Amino acid sequence: MNTRMLKMLATTVLVSLPLAGCATGDTTEVEGGAKIVEEGKLTVCTHLPYKPFEFNQGGEVVGFDIDLMDLVADELGLETKVFDTPFEGIQSGQSLNTGQCDVAAAGMTITDERAAVIDFSDPYFDATQALLTKTGSGISSMEDLAGKSLAVQVGTTGEIYAEENAPEDTTLRSFEDLALLAAAVKTGQVDAAINDNGVLYDYVKSNPDTEVVTEFDTGEQYGFAVKKDDNEALLETINEVLATAKEDGTYDEIYEKWFGEAKS
Ligand code: ARG
Repeated sequence: MNTRMLKMLATTVLVSLPLAGCATGDTTEVEGGAKIVEEGKLTVCTHLPYKPFEFNQGGEVVGFDIDLMDLVADELGLETKVFDTPFEGIQSGQSLNTGQCDVAAAGMTITDERAAVIDFSDPYFDATQALLTKTGSGISSMEDLAGKSLAVQVGTTGEIYAEENAPEDTTLRSFEDLALLAAAVKTGQVDAAINDNGVLYDYVKSNPDTEVVTEFDTGEQYGFAVKKDDNEALLETINEVLATAKEDGTYDEIYEKWFGEAKS
């Protein structure tokens, strides 16, 4: 090995050491036993944009999930820090396992497959799948998509629903995030898109050239998530904060703030 290679090797080792420290998940404990990856912060993994649950507004990440996470952070004497990362890694447990964050808040549906690899909080929001099209497209059901194209968001329950329920000759087109998926409908790249009702109804409010034409009663519920079998104390705090917020009206206030109407 020549000196140049040795030098390169030395640099690699030096540079990767601090990163390795992160990846193995060095954590600090706060009072009560909740583990956190960064001192003073509640580090929250999410996948942007997913308006109104999490999205950028004036250079800041805001939304329904973020407000609930702020309540948890407050309770622990921490500050919320948002980490934006692809949804696949969030729902597979990878983000939590590699210490990217303490908790995932991503409008994420509780499913058995996911519950096997991450620990979910109590449910905090009901959702169902819905179909977005251009206004007046004539499409109003899954069957109408025969021979047409349908946009799905990678790694989501909507993708799974489409794989299982779309007509055989429907072309599924994958999009990494909600903004790209909705834009594909708006610009006519695809005939329709499937995603959760909450985000699609929010989208059509500011995009009247698109509409939500139907819902599929999937009966989903969102949960926050922590690393599997590793952070019981944090999970307990999250559940307590959710219960209190539901009891004292804070949850309803946050709901109205982001959905513009009282929870039915
Ligand atoms: N609720 C759906 C799921 O859990 C979609 C969530 C997508 N969330 C996001 N922040 N991109 O699969």
